[in-house]
Amino acid sequence: MMNTTNTLPRRVEVVEVGPRDGLQNEAEPVPLDAKVELVDRLSAAGFPNVEAAAFVSPKWVPQMADSAEVMARIRRRPGTVYSALVPNMKGMEAALAAGAGEVVVFSAASEAFAQKNINCSIAESIDRFRPVAEAARAAGVKLRGSISVALGCPYQGEVEPAAVADVARRLADLGCDAIDIADTIGVGTPGRVQAVFEATARAFPLERQAGHFHDTYGQALANILGALQLGVASFHSSVAGLGGCPYAKGATGNVATEDVLYLLHGLGIETGVDLRAVVEAGDFITRAINRPNNSRAGKALLAKWAAQAGESAACAA
Ligand code: HMG
Ligand code: MG
Repeated sequence: MMNTTNTLPRRVEVVEVGPRDGLQNEAEPVPLDAKVELVDRLSAAGFPNVEAAAFVSPKWVPQMADSAEVMARIRRRPGTVYSALVPNMKGMEAALAAGAGEVVVFSAASEAFAQKNINCSIAESIDRFRPVAEAARAAGVKLRGSISVALGCPYQGEVEPAAVADVARRLADLGCDAIDIADTIGVGTPGRVQAVFEATARAFPLERQAGHFHDTYGQALANILGALQLGVASFHSSVAGLGGCPYAKGATGNVATEDVLYLLHGLGIETGVDLRAVVEAGDFITRAINRPNNSRAGKALLAKWAAQAGESAACAA
């Protein structure tokens, strides 16, 4: 067993994936202006990394078809890396042309999910990523590898930690700078999450791994705490808890960023991100696309601030 000490990381990187993972699942086209304003608001909130685009087949994920326009129109903040998903060289060329600072290749811990999501086997996906990795190195762009269904697969069911570690090893061999352990369908619980990180830590440095937890079963915050106890210091989240996965029916969005920040800041962990600005960004995008706000902390803070504004207006009257 790895050490689960009470010494939590003092600083954590929160990667905002709402503009990509959050919006990709929307059936109705999200206006370009709304996408751009969302990314700009998130940049201003201080995220070190915003996943802003996906250069994937527009037939597979139509919502991401305007990724080049999004990347061209956003205001780039020094200190924020704008990352983009790329499944192959075609996506890589588009991502480099768009000025992505980090590209994300994505495979899976189950063969069934790899087929559904990227239409190939795990081994074939790694082969497709080889030229992408070379191009990333040549361009000086960071390379991240994401492992879907690391805590369970909607088609296969149980996924062994050893299977996740096997993909982590292949992504290490590919030269990935970082990897994401993704609970695509949000089925993990903290003990299981720790078992997976214990296995992947033998294949890839733990300090360069991130937890990417969807919140379908309401376990994501507990899973983050479990991962923090092992020393994991990077987590993905989606503003207002937007999203789902087009290839994992019934899965909800990532854990809401506002809730993650509330947890981390409450534990005295620095993130460099302004919670208020994120809550306002969540309010903006949920109104813009007419979606419920799925952040508990976001809704609570909006209600509190509205009440405070009402009180001060009453005092002034
Ligand atoms: P395919 O159909 O096997 O690809 O799809 P193909 O190489 O046979 O090409 C078919 C057509 O797609 C061709 O066009 C290509 O040009 C085009 P046509 O000749 O028919 O007009 N094409 C592309 N167009 C734009 N950009 C590209 C691209 N590549 C091919 N990059 C492929 C294979 C991988 C492309 C497809 O399956 C795909 O795009 N999959 C992406 C699915 C996706 O985006 N899923 C959601 C993101 S992953 C996720 O959310 C999980 C994550 O959050 C972690 C977690 O929670 O698990 C990261
Ligand atoms: Mg995801």
